[in-house]
Amino acid sequence: MSTVDVELSRATEQLAAAGIDSARSDAEWLLVALSGVDRGRLLMMDALDDAARTAYRAAVTRRAQRIPLQHIIGTAAFGPAELAVGPGVFTPRPETEFLAEWACGAAGRIDGPASVVDLCSGSGALAIAIATMLPTARVRAVERSPVALEWLRGNVDRAAGSVRARVSVVAADVTDADRMRASIPTGSIDVVVANPPYVPDGAAVAPEVAHDPAEAVFAGADGMSVITPMLTVIAGMLRPGGVVGLEHDDSTSDAVVAAMSVTGAFVDVRAHRDLAGRPRFVTARRGPAGPLRSA
Ligand SMILES: C[S@@+](CC[C@H](N)C(=O)[O-])C[C@H]1O[C@@H](n2cnc3c(N)ncnc32)[C@H](O)[C@@H]1O
Repeated sequence: MSTVDVELSRATEQLAAAGIDSARSDAEWLLVALSGVDRGRLLMMDALDDAARTAYRAAVTRRAQRIPLQHIIGTAAFGPAELAVGPGVFTPRPETEFLAEWACGAAGRIDGPASVVDLCSGSGALAIAIATMLPTARVRAVERSPVALEWLRGNVDRAAGSVRARVSVVAADVTDADRMRASIPTGSIDVVVANPPYVPDGAAVAPEVAHDPAEAVFAGADGMSVITPMLTVIAGMLRPGGVVGLEHDDSTSDAVVAAMSVTGAFVDVRAHRDLAGRPRFVTARRGPAGPLRSA
């Protein structure tokens, strides 16, 4: 038998030694996942028996190998949503919740049910969180990867309440303007969100990123290989006055602002920072419909 506080301290030391900043919190979440006990009640748990201790230590060792916490426990929390994640799909990051909140604020100012599109949807984090927070919104989740699409469809099927009926999945390449026009009528959308691949090739990333599909993360030498072609697609689907929020690498805020401005399609182009002060996403409003310049 081993007391819970001894096991948690041991796990925290092992995870901190592996370079994990959130060592104590990860140690606790792994124990929550194995025991089913609420995080706030862990220290009131009985001591771990041998089988429980062995299973817990094995999970901690996997995390110390920098396997993402979410892959070990099988789910990722994202705003009000809990998503199944694992190999072949991008693990949603907490910083993307800012974009979900911005989108809900924008959509909440619209009369009637909002039409929302989540481009590069991955596990469906943004689409499902937005549909959960906006109980009448209709959300289209667009994704290209066949494996990610399986996770996405599974998460939509398991979503609570009316979310399942209000989120539809579109299997498509978001840079394919003809395909996108065929799926989403021109000028029909109120709000577009996108967390596309945007890390410049070769940039230093945390070891956990090796468990995300490369096509979900990297986007050419300048990090813009998906964003730039996606802009004309976004301009096409937004109604005049509709808005877009686009997450990007912290080194590409100016490039995203410039690429948006050059299309001539967007007004009120604004860069936003996260709580740590890093440039995180750019928002803009669709100007009056008209011919687009090449981005
Ligand atoms: C950074 S992940 C974001 C996933 C999700 N939106 C989130 O915030 O957790 C980017 C996603 O875009 C998808 N993707 C990459 N290129 C794409 C393309 N050209 N068309 C559609 N999806 C694409 C990847 O498969 C991946 O699921």
